[in-house]
Amino acid sequence: MEKKKVLVLPGDGIGVDVCNAALPIFDVLALPIELSFGDIGWSCWENEGTPIPVRTWDQISKSDAVLLGAITSKGKDEAEKALPKELQNKNWQYVSPVIQLRQQLGLFANIRPAHYINGDREPFDLCVIRENTEGLYAGFDFKGIPENLDNFLTHPNIGVYGPKEVAWSVRLQTKHGLSRLFKKAFIYAEDHGLKRVTFADKPNVMRESGKFAKDIFFDIASNYPDITADIHNVDAVALWLVKKPHEFGVIVAENMFGDILSDLVAGVMGGLGVAPSANIGSDIAYFEPVHGSAPKMAGKGKANPCALFMSIALMLDYLGYPDHASRLEVAVKHVIKSRVALSYDFGGDATTVEVAKAIIDAYRNQTEGRTVAILTIGDELLSGKSINTNLSDLSQIAEHKGYSVVRQIVCSDSVGDIEQTISKLAGDVDYLVLSGGLGPTSDDRTRFAVAEVAKESLVFNDCSWRHIESRLTNFNVAVDESNRVQAMFPETAAILSNPIGTANGFSLNIYGTKVLVLPGPPAEAKYLLDKYLAEIVNASNSTNSYKWSIMGVSEGEVGTFFETTLKKYDLKLHYLWKYPYVQVEAILPKGHTVADSTLRTIRKEFGKLLISESGEKASEIVSRQNLGINWESNSESISKNISKELSAITSNKNINTTIHFEIYPSLSELLNNKIFTGDCWLVCHDDNGNKDSISFPCRGSEIQVFIKEYLCNFVLRLSESNIKDAVC
Ligand code: IPM
Ligand code: MG
Repeated sequence: MEKKKVLVLPGDGIGVDVCNAALPIFDVLALPIELSFGDIGWSCWENEGTPIPVRTWDQISKSDAVLLGAITSKGKDEAEKALPKELQNKNWQYVSPVIQLRQQLGLFANIRPAHYINGDREPFDLCVIRENTEGLYAGFDFKGIPENLDNFLTHPNIGVYGPKEVAWSVRLQTKHGLSRLFKKAFIYAEDHGLKRVTFADKPNVMRESGKFAKDIFFDIASNYPDITADIHNVDAVALWLVKKPHEFGVIVAENMFGDILSDLVAGVMGGLGVAPSANIGSDIAYFEPVHGSAPKMAGKGKANPCALFMSIALMLDYLGYPDHASRLEVAVKHVIKSRVALSYDFGGDATTVEVAKAIIDAYRNQTEGRTVAILTIGDELLSGKSINTNLSDLSQIAEHKGYSVVRQIVCSDSVGDIEQTISKLAGDVDYLVLSGGLGPTSDDRTRFAVAEVAKESLVFNDCSWRHIESRLTNFNVAVDESNRVQAMFPETAAILSNPIGTANGFSLNIYGTKVLVLPGPPAEAKYLLDKYLAEIVNASNSTNSYKWSIMGVSEGEVGTFFETTLKKYDLKLHYLWKYPYVQVEAILPKGHTVADSTLRTIRKEFGKLLISESGEKASEIVSRQNLGINWESNSESISKNISKELSAITSNKNINTTIHFEIYPSLSELLNNKIFTGDCWLVCHDDNGNKDSISFPCRGSEIQVFIKEYLCNFVLRLSESNIKDAVC
């Protein structure tokens, strides 16, 4: 396959930092993309008198896309001073390289999307599309009014110091430039499911150029009747973008207004650290973060690389890899939302490389980006009248399929409550699973709330109605008019057919979150989730995981040991405290392993307290092995209980070992004396002289679990290595 050629131009300042940190993503993407590197920016200007050397133009012309870090732009005087002596006074002009690229490559549209990432606000999904070649950036920027124009450019202020002491700029608007821009804006809206295109301009002041542009805008808009087209003053748009960004779709604007609005929406999204851009219009597109080169921050490892990753995602989409693009975008959002690694601008202290590494990890580990929230709906659940089994059952199904359940929520039947909860979660998780409230009665409001948040109306579905009628008739239940509501679904919803119940479920996208709406009856909800939540392909194959179950050691101690011992590995550690175990899981990228010597260090550290390397409990392993064991203990009834439990997991046929165990102080003393908080002792032995003992903190009745597990551990060690005198 022909490889796509991407030219990387890191540029200046933090542009270099973010490129160095982010480029390893291309190894993980493993796409047919060939990277090459070129020079651009301030150092080229300083050394060669041009920020884009001829060789770089040549490289650009041979590329499919260009990825830019950031470039320093300075004013006229500073630029002149930065040149070596021999290049000064030649009247060389520093022209912003990005403007040169946009104008010379004919990249007339600057696409600057802004999505909701996190925070307590209504999710939004909008895009500023900025004209990129003309407007106030056309280059008509002059000092002094020439004589032949002094009759034309008149203003009372000019006369005060005379026409030489004047500077003036022209906002160029051409029919060609505006038509192609507006067309692009509507096509973008169509392609991205955005229903509104707003032209932000200033026709009340710029009367001619404003009216000219407005007429062209509405002319183009008439070809897109399904999209709302409106024009507003740019200052008002700025205000409403801050207050209600969720009400916008595409905002299209001339060059300067677009420059300002795109920084504003970047701020609404979280800052320039996350704002990407795509410059498109001809055969070669270029992609860059909206932020600049921030020279003072360069080399300090502080810059946020998220915007570059988001720009890479836009580039992947452009090059024909939309799935990779959206996975990368999800990975960036995941790292920010889960606070795995945050740079200073998001209130954290992670370095550029740490943030980049977290994003690459999140991308690699497919499950990381597959977050699920479960929302169960019903007053009866809140009041406790019904046991909410759906919450745990649906979570288990999702986890089993490789997803990560990050929220469990219960809310009332009120439309307002449901709407508010959905709005908070949409855009924040990859999947939102709702159950309950799809029935025919007045307290079943879920479909109304979902439609309201999705801004869609409910439409009647014949096929679902026939299903309802036939089910009710089969069960000899009269078909009631009230059932018709169960056949109403939001316009864009896909219906999830439910052969085991009356109410079909449905699914639709809200702010990038896939929402699955399921009926409340547990059997139906479980059936539908299992059927419609896809298995994550290769979820378990994409990583390599190690597990350890350790007993009798505090979680803190275990944590410190593992963090230190596994420090050099590229992995994620998870701890689960399940008395009397601390279960540790280390997840490594596929193909990565923990060295045998490290595994031996772990075994040595915990010795007999390392119960399994599979995540299983000792009692689970013993019960699987069906060992014939006779359990003997002192005559106390509590000990007898433990023996009974142990006998239940071992076999009482073909007995080949008797295990004796005793506990000091006696169990009844321990359990009845509530103030006893010291250590207790377990001593055990078999008939062959193998013995063991351990002291452990007394935790009331829980120590029975400890004793049971420890004795199973003893049995396992006996059968494995026939240990003698394992007394600690
Ligand atoms: C941007 C920047 C540029 C612009 C500068 C660096 C010339 O602010 O890409 O938004 O004004 O277009
Ligand atoms: Mg700008």
